[in-house]
Amino acid sequence: MQRYDVFLECANVFAFFFGKRLAIQKLALPLRKISYKHKQMAAKTKTAFVCTQCGNDSPKWLGKCPVCGEWNTYVEEVISKSTPDNIVPAMSNFDTFHSKPILLQEIETDAEVRMDMNDLELNRVLGGGLVPGSLVLIGGEPGIGKSTLVLQTVLKLPQYKTLYVSGEESAKQLKLRAERLNTSSENCFIVCETNLEKIFTHINNVKPDLVIVDSIQTVFTDRAESSPGSITQVRECSAGLLKFAKETGTPTLLIGHINKDGNIAGPKVLEHIVDTVLQFEGDQHYMYRILRNIKNRFGSTSELGIYEMRQDGLREVNNPSELLLTQNHEGLSGVAIAAAIEGVRPFLIETQGLVSTAAYGVPQRSATGFDIRRMNMLLAVLEKRAGFKLGQKDVFLNIAGGLRVNDPAMDLSVISAVLSSSLDVTIERETCVCGEVGLSGEIRPINRIEQRILEAEKLGFKRIIIPQNNLKGFDIKRLQIQIKAVKKVEEAFRELFG
Ligand code: TYD
Ligand code: MG
Repeated sequence: MQRYDVFLECANVFAFFFGKRLAIQKLALPLRKISYKHKQMAAKTKTAFVCTQCGNDSPKWLGKCPVCGEWNTYVEEVISKSTPDNIVPAMSNFDTFHSKPILLQEIETDAEVRMDMNDLELNRVLGGGLVPGSLVLIGGEPGIGKSTLVLQTVLKLPQYKTLYVSGEESAKQLKLRAERLNTSSENCFIVCETNLEKIFTHINNVKPDLVIVDSIQTVFTDRAESSPGSITQVRECSAGLLKFAKETGTPTLLIGHINKDGNIAGPKVLEHIVDTVLQFEGDQHYMYRILRNIKNRFGSTSELGIYEMRQDGLREVNNPSELLLTQNHEGLSGVAIAAAIEGVRPFLIETQGLVSTAAYGVPQRSATGFDIRRMNMLLAVLEKRAGFKLGQKDVFLNIAGGLRVNDPAMDLSVISAVLSSSLDVTIERETCVCGEVGLSGEIRPINRIEQRILEAEKLGFKRIIIPQNNLKGFDIKRLQIQIKAVKKVEEAFRELFG
């Protein structure tokens, strides 16, 4: 009996403590929740990991982005949720339109008048001028001449009131550059400001017809707490500027940096936001610059503008062939002229090849302005189909002028230049070639043959070698230039080297 009492007593004590602990736990949980919430509210900053490629965010770091599939693209960013809704303040005196659904057939297209940029190359790349209300991004390596191009364009447009927002250079520096460019406009306002809200205030005061932001990576908004140039800032600021451009119909040009991989810095989202993406490229050691269209909501992306960087700014190159063929190579081996097309413009371009005996065991292959894998393929075709032993030779290839050409019709000029150097036989100065080379050594047809032939004829070439299949339905009688149609590389070599 006593034993049983003792046991009961123990059980009571146990139940008392156990119950109490449960009670304490039950109480502690909500208490902990409350204190966690309190801590969160008290914290000033909140961070998230953002993918630099697609802009997807995640609360924790990820090795591979689940959205775009890229590796190692997540960076930590400070974000703020408590942001006001409207980034663009109300603009007085601007014709802001209110959105209203409208039938497709009722939309008037001829009402859209493009802005003439007073620059043939830029107009061409934009697809016939700048569309009102469009947001254009110009990307390029530092020092390539983006600011020069934009300032020069703005100064050539005195009929439009422009606001140049500079976040990189002081007003004095811009003035010095303008003096160097030897042009001036009475309608160009300069402001050195990086705060987006203040920029909108200036825009509201000036009421420009065209806005330039140099560069989008230096601009920041108070809505986001991360530093300027970060993904959140770039995204927020460009979204704000897009909204402004669309609401007021003011075209806006943004200058963007590119990162070391050659992509425009900031997330891909930036490229999705804007209407047009232009890439300004070229070799810093050469004077030619190419303005390429990567994305265009208002025209084709195959257009391309060519400029020459001079002491007094950029000069439009309206006829690229003349510039690319200035040197006289009479009597030199290893030079072949190709009738190439970049965008929709034909031009004649020099391909230079050099073949020498490999000094070391492994032969070198080097290509400038041409895809090296494609060159290796062409060398293999030469070796297999035409019997030229290049296995123990160093081969160097160069496209003149620092241009990068992606036209497959360059193939024939590449193998001709390589062979000319290998045999040390000169190709006649007045002959040019075009044609794609297939794996079995056949010359495949290429596009826009007529344009290529006419360009060669215009520049005084006497003979052009073209693919046989391109001759179908083509009237050659009316042409002055002699046309040689070939089926295989061997035939082309016979024509060139006898
Ligand atoms: P810039 O427009 O500052 O390049 P980005 O804005 O793309 O960084 O161009 C700078 C380069 O251009 C610089 O190296 C000097 C050269 N340049 C000329 O050769 N001629 C000129 O008239 C000007 C204004 C610049
Ligand atoms: Mg610049």
